[in-house]
Amino acid sequence: MGGFRVQPEEKGPGQAVGQQRHPIIPGFRNQPRIVAVSQDELKALVGQAALQYVVQGEVVGVGTGSTVNKFIEALAGIRDRIPGAVSSSDASTERLRAAGIRVFDANEVGELAVYIDGADEIDGAGHMIKGGGAALTREKIIAAQSRRFICIADESKRVEVLGRFPLPVEVIPMATQAVIRKFAALGGAAQVRQREGRPLVTDNGQHILDVTGLQIRSPLAFESEVNQWPGVVTVGVFAHQKAAVCLLGTAGGVQTLNY
Ligand code: 5RP
Repeated sequence: MGGFRVQPEEKGPGQAVGQQRHPIIPGFRNQPRIVAVSQDELKALVGQAALQYVVQGEVVGVGTGSTVNKFIEALAGIRDRIPGAVSSSDASTERLRAAGIRVFDANEVGELAVYIDGADEIDGAGHMIKGGGAALTREKIIAAQSRRFICIADESKRVEVLGRFPLPVEVIPMATQAVIRKFAALGGAAQVRQREGRPLVTDNGQHILDVTGLQIRSPLAFESEVNQWPGVVTVGVFAHQKAAVCLLGTAGGVQTLNY
């Protein structure tokens, strides 16, 4: 993707992460190597490891997807130690409630200590592509409301340059063709995501475009640019709301990457 410069505020890996105030679960960092085989097991490992970032007595932000579902299962075990969660989708809300965890509206709570969510791709600086589960808009809202984004992902999600995964973009339906043309001018091919033969309708009543053919080398600039196109609700690049930490599930165990 040409034409976008890297913004000075982009940070590289290795930045220290602040201490948790009251972490419920002690750190996993010094654990012996754990050997996991399947992708499902890797997701369960990082879902469990994310508990160490949940702050006792504080509402936690919860994302959407199969990795987050593992986190919700783990969170159920400590539900008595938190007031509840803010959820990024109807699907996660349903799971949280089924697990006995109270769900708050984002407007009922102030700043959150942490937001825990998966990703479709994450680069070496913690920038992500998200929205494979069509929940990107609410995910970005809660991420922006949270002090730290803790990304939980298996190692297949780690990339050098964002863009191999088709980029999800939530759009207002009447702007669909105009937005498709704008992506075409950048070398991207956008398609309306379908479900059961019809355009998928998000929790917000909008549509999703999936864009292939992009190499997003300057995620901050790209996100800012696309987000101001008329009709774009949210672009699935999370650079302004990038991860502070990624718990990456690998065959050797959980790697903690700080950005
Ligand atoms: C949903 C998302 C998910 O975090 C992303 O798609 C990863 O999902 P999974 O954990 O199932 O691989 O952005 O909108």
